[in-house]
Amino acid sequence: MNTQFTQSDYLDMFSEFTNQCQKTHTEMIKNWYDPMGVTMNSFFKFAEMANASVNQIAHQHAAALKSFFPQGASEKCVVKTTVTSQPQTGHIAIVTGGIGGIGTDICRSLARQGNKVIATYISFEAERAVEWQKERLEEGLDIYVIECDVTDFNACKKMAKKLEKKYASIDILVNCAGITRDATLKKMKKENWHAVLDTNLDSVFNVTRNFINGMVKRQYGRIINISSVNGHKGQFGQTNYSAAKAGMVGFTKSLARELADSGITVNTVSPGYVGTSMVKAMPENIVNNIIAKIPLGRLARPSEIGDAVAFLAHTNSGYITGSDISINGGLFMR
Ligand code: CAA
Repeated sequence: MNTQFTQSDYLDMFSEFTNQCQKTHTEMIKNWYDPMGVTMNSFFKFAEMANASVNQIAHQHAAALKSFFPQGASEKCVVKTTVTSQPQTGHIAIVTGGIGGIGTDICRSLARQGNKVIATYISFEAERAVEWQKERLEEGLDIYVIECDVTDFNACKKMAKKLEKKYASIDILVNCAGITRDATLKKMKKENWHAVLDTNLDSVFNVTRNFINGMVKRQYGRIINISSVNGHKGQFGQTNYSAAKAGMVGFTKSLARELADSGITVNTVSPGYVGTSMVKAMPENIVNNIIAKIPLGRLARPSEIGDAVAFLAHTNSGYITGSDISINGGLFMR
């Protein structure tokens, strides 16, 4: 028998599956008994994770059986799962600022949906990016990381070329890279105006411009721009940030019109205040005042943003374009 695996390889693989299942199960339980309350969202996540884990085991099991019984025993090892929120899509997705607070959960949601995910980071985050990648692997998510300064058009061009060569097609683009430099306008330094506009708005042009030709050629794409509640309502101390985030909304609607006949949808997701380091960096009294005004009475969980992005990124969402999904706990109702 021409086997690729020895029996001890086979056993090793199974013990690895068991560990993986245990980890997934622990995470499922954490989600299920979420201290914020059990929601439908938690249920779907639970189902999706169980699904992914069963499929992974079936796949590996089939591979192992095939090598032991090359005459076709593996065909018998087909596991069909029935509970799922959405079928897997298997696309290639890039998330700018993917290793950040919201970016991480966008990567998680897209990867769990069955996409191959690439996260970008900026050079000074190189060490963190390595750690981050390891942490995702421990969660069972194999995410590729790539350095790119999204404020630099040529760097984005180079990255797009490299990725299109490596993966052939980039189907999903999430523009998530963003910073704040809050100050009232009377105190705002010119460099902080430009830093925020460059990182939050120019980046959207720089990255999108370098990926849309490929999407148009393949007549398929999902572009999701992460705006903000403050791009819609304004915020004290954020003329720069609100201008950039409002700019993303205009950019999105215009591009959605331009690409409507190319099978490409373009949408924004506008988070409210999310429990990330960006919000935690604000003075505590200001955060508490903001929370007091949120009808749902709490910050958003990053996964709640990730799940909305995955929804828009899915093939089934092809009739949603030029839209905005606001996820702000009712902070701003239009
Ligand atoms: N509305 C009206 N007046 C306000 C105010 C508000 N929301 N906040 C402060 N003020 C008043 C103060 O009471 C103070 O008044 P007095 O001078 O009469 O005492 C005055 O404005 C302070 O003005 P300064 O220019 O001196 O402000 P500062 O330098 O002390 O602080 C700030 C300004 C850094 C912008 C601070 O107000 C702040 O951190 N604000 C929060 C900004 C914010 O919400 N950032 C969101 C970050 S998270 C994010 O952006 C993610 C997302 O997408 C939602």
